[in-house]
Amino acid sequence: MIIGLDVGSRAAKAAYYTDSYEYRIVSSHSWQDLIDRDGIIVSTGYFRKKVPHELNVTEITTAIYGVRHFLKEDVDAIVDIGGQDTKMIDMRRNDFRMNDKCSSGTGTFLEYIANYFALDVSELQNFHFRAKTSAKINSTCSVFAQSEVVSRLVEGYSKEEIINGIHHAFARRIAQMLPGNARMIALIGGTAKNKGVVDAFEKELGVKVLVPPDPQVVNAVGAVKYYLATERDG
Ligand SMILES: Nc1ncnc2c1ncn2[C@@H]1O[C@H](COP(=O)(O)OP(=O)(O)OP(=O)(O)O)[C@@H](O)[C@H]1O
Ligand SMILES: [Mg+2]
Repeated sequence: MIIGLDVGSRAAKAAYYTDSYEYRIVSSHSWQDLIDRDGIIVSTGYFRKKVPHELNVTEITTAIYGVRHFLKEDVDAIVDIGGQDTKMIDMRRNDFRMNDKCSSGTGTFLEYIANYFALDVSELQNFHFRAKTSAKINSTCSVFAQSEVVSRLVEGYSKEEIINGIHHAFARRIAQMLPGNARMIALIGGTAKNKGVVDAFEKELGVKVLVPPDPQVVNAVGAVKYYLATERDG
């Protein structure tokens, strides 16, 4: 068995491969729970060097291998929206950018907003699609965004319209990282499970956004794929 183990800042993901894949996701501090079976461990993510492994690989490599496994199309860029940072891989220019300055444009920002409305992050998408219009939000800095949220509530916008506006601001923030002429992008990472974010991306950028079936396990699968492609037979 080959175990792709992606221990990120927020969540630990495992892809178990023998002749098919099985996945598990736990909180990062419980990564030990994921290696309760024998196998060759290929690690990636923030903690890749801290966890047991036969081989460790960067998330740039695993994102590329993982996206190729799940998507038939060649994308111009891959955006991994994780808990703590957002990474952009420009596939045409072999360029890489990372946003980790503050929570702006990362999963933590949307968690902050969800928390403000006493919602779970997984519920944000339902509110997004119920909105009749989008409230104008400019900031994706948690503190400034919260004061904008309060202002929009005072102006009479609904929770749905504000959450929709938050997703649009979030997409615009991440768009700053993208190469200008990108036509098709892949979104991965746990935050890409939010279909409201995907919708805002498509509307704001006019690009085609592809999301693998479970975007959160792409790097774990990519770690397995990298091993299969490079190590197993040579
Ligand atoms: N169903 C969901 N809907 C929306 N967001 C989600 C959902 N499930 C998880 N998330 C968000 O995904 C993020 C975690 O994603 P992921 O596991 O890709 O991060 P990570 O790899 O630990 O972080 P990083 O790559 O920054 O180190 C969290 O911010 C979490 O709120
Ligand atoms: Mg990650």
